[in-house]
Amino acid sequence: MSRSAHPAGPRHADVLPEGHYSAPPADLNTLDAKVWSETVSRDADGVVTAGGLDVKTLAERHGTPAYILDEADFRARARSWRGAFGSDADVFYAGKAFLSRAIVRWLHEEGLNLDVCSGGELATAISAGMPADRIAFHGNNKSTEEIRRAVEAGVGRIVLDSFQEIVRVAHIAQELGTRQRVQIRITVGVEAHTHEFIATAHEDQKFGIPLAGGQAAEAVRRALRLDGLEVIGIHSHIGSQIFDMSGFEVAAHRVVGLLKDIRDEHGVELPEIDLGGGLGIAYTSDDDPREPHEIAKALTEIVTRECEAAKLRTPRISVEPGRAIVGPTAFTLYEVGTIKPLDNLRTYVSVDGGMSDNIRTALYDAEYSVALVSRTSDAAPMLARVVGKHCESGDIVVKDAFLPADLAPGDLIAVPATGAYCRSMASNYNHVLRPPVVAVHDGESRVIVRRETEEDLLRLDVG
Ligand code: LLP
Repeated sequence: MSRSAHPAGPRHADVLPEGHYSAPPADLNTLDAKVWSETVSRDADGVVTAGGLDVKTLAERHGTPAYILDEADFRARARSWRGAFGSDADVFYAGKAFLSRAIVRWLHEEGLNLDVCSGGELATAISAGMPADRIAFHGNNKSTEEIRRAVEAGVGRIVLDSFQEIVRVAHIAQELGTRQRVQIRITVGVEAHTHEFIATAHEDQKFGIPLAGGQAAEAVRRALRLDGLEVIGIHSHIGSQIFDMSGFEVAAHRVVGLLKDIRDEHGVELPEIDLGGGLGIAYTSDDDPREPHEIAKALTEIVTRECEAAKLRTPRISVEPGRAIVGPTAFTLYEVGTIKPLDNLRTYVSVDGGMSDNIRTALYDAEYSVALVSRTSDAAPMLARVVGKHCESGDIVVKDAFLPADLAPGDLIAVPATGAYCRSMASNYNHVLRPPVVAVHDGESRVIVRRETEEDLLRLDVG
């Protein structure tokens, strides 16, 4: 690994430019356990290891960039969500965060259910042996074909998202001679404290049926009349990367209000309530997520209290965490390429991936951490911007972070907490090939999604 010196220029400007960062950490070699997966640490030589394997070996075996996913951590998080909610509730992992057949098998083994939102996710789930009755099917524009496949497969629930879909699902179920269990997704008018693009329960948006103006009540009225449907509950998802439980509190209050109205009007107590996902994780040391048992306790207490006040039997609760299970379990391993110090600004550190393997920084202004992982360094901190290799200046992976000033081409750096919505939102922009997902566990590495090849690209390009 060559360690050539940088061209002359300040490593660390005297007056730091504006940005999303706090003071440089006291020690750049320390890995904050908050943002790294469970089995990550440095070995005696200072090289970072995950699942018992050091990153140099991983890079040699699997190349870079690569998503390194800690199987033990994934299973532990899945188990802790499952355990926190206990047998009176269901945990549906949101497959959109990241889905592969290995993930489906691990979820199955750990007793979780699965939320899918497209025919592709459904196919992945079924091909890896997830029992259909443990699958929930979501989406604001499911095609007739997707609905038919889901009903035929016998999915445990379809989450209805519009008036049209109520009729469509009922019709397909009847045609297939069955009754489909459904929940109705409503928007409760809560806007979660998160980025505008990923907040979903306020009313001016494409998901769900608004509670306001009696629309949700009308949807339930219509669904209850249709023979092809068995209405089992109400669904609400208020947004993503949420730390504050007060949004859930308001949502639960309003959902339970609707359950009460349904009981009063139809004499039916719907048995289930789904509060969606959206629980936040730590991307940087400034984030303080709650533990699953605290979240479970808070949500269960809110629903129980609201139901007692409304004199309703407490429904079975379900939740759909995606990011909170898979997000912290993976990091992206990159090799450093070009390094460009800009006087009195910052140093641009280019890596061999970029916005095609992590679009979240460009899309949501998301913040990430980064560390030098192939060695330690005692050099001074340098304000860095980690950028990709794409033809776009918005191609930023980590906007502002401190890396050691002796960083050199060939060093390996890693961005933690990239398990959710990075591989699943990856693209082929500039015909850059999507990285593999490599599971590490007990000193072994296993490719669970292989690296894309140029042949893959050319196979789709039929001339
Ligand atoms: N349930 C429903 C109905 C959802 O729409 C979502 C996420 C989830 C559960 C899981 O949310 P989670 O626990 O993973 O936050 N691409 C964005 C996130 C979009 C989330 C869409 N729905 C991001 O990278 O932040």
